[in-house]
Amino acid sequence: MPLLEVRNLHVCVEGREILHGLDLTVNAGKVHAIMGPNGSGKSTLSHVITGKPGYQITAGRLLFKGEDLLAMRPDQRAAKGLFLAFQYPVEIPGVTTMNFLRTALNAQRKARGQSGYSTPHFLKKARTAAKQLNIPQSMLKRGVNVGFSGGEKKRNEILQMALFEPDLCILDEIDSGLDIDALRIVADGINAMRSPDRSMIMITHYQRLLNYVVPDVVHVMSKGRVVKSGDKQLALELEASGYAQFEDAA
Ligand SMILES: Nc1ncnc2c1ncn2[C@@H]1O[C@H](COP(=O)(O)OP(=O)(O)OP(=O)(O)O)[C@@H](O)[C@H]1O
Ligand SMILES: [Mg+2]
Repeated sequence: MPLLEVRNLHVCVEGREILHGLDLTVNAGKVHAIMGPNGSGKSTLSHVITGKPGYQITAGRLLFKGEDLLAMRPDQRAAKGLFLAFQYPVEIPGVTTMNFLRTALNAQRKARGQSGYSTPHFLKKARTAAKQLNIPQSMLKRGVNVGFSGGEKKRNEILQMALFEPDLCILDEIDSGLDIDALRIVADGINAMRSPDRSMIMITHYQRLLNYVVPDVVHVMSKGRVVKSGDKQLALELEASGYAQFEDAA
């Protein structure tokens, strides 16, 4: 059984259709890259999978571990093992990063019938993960993403992913705004989480990330559909030839 199955997905926002019959299958343990022009619907797809409100699903199916995602609330989807690293991480003033991570992680564990981490146990886990991602302790005491630089926000998303240990990680432009060293650190963090029972969908515009985190499957999205799929070679071809060839296919 595939981990994620998207079939003929049609999605509207404010009366306008943005996804026009999208198909995508992700098997366990695989890293997929989704590329495609601005506005082709990549972030919309990630939002619909994780259950962000405001999207009307007018046709199609969305299955995760064989279960209907559309019947689940966003928190239920997260507890089932879905995780999205946002293209634009949100700031939460007044809630420290440490507190946010502990509360969110323990809520997920509770929903899965697991016991919550004690504060000392959690602190140890969080500090170890933060260190690997080169995130200073002082950042964890600040409000979630408040005043974080673009690259710090992205590293903070990967810290969340490392702590939540999801089965499907969707990373929406995790490489945007990262300096060369930070890209390496983030890529190392992603690679460290690759495992036979964890899958990833990396949305990216750049081959640079894919040099570090080598994908098993590459998809091209255009105008609300997946129009081509291939192996890592496809991303290299795109770099050379651009998206014009897919406009007609869409
Ligand atoms: N809330 C919304 N209201 C109106 N239009 C929307 C909304 N959300 C998305 N859209 C439109 O849907 C289309 C797809 O947007 P989306 O953000 O999914 O693209 P993308 O492929 O992620 O692009 P990028 O590479 O620039 O991040 C765009 O034309 C966008 O303007
Ligand atoms: Mg986007």
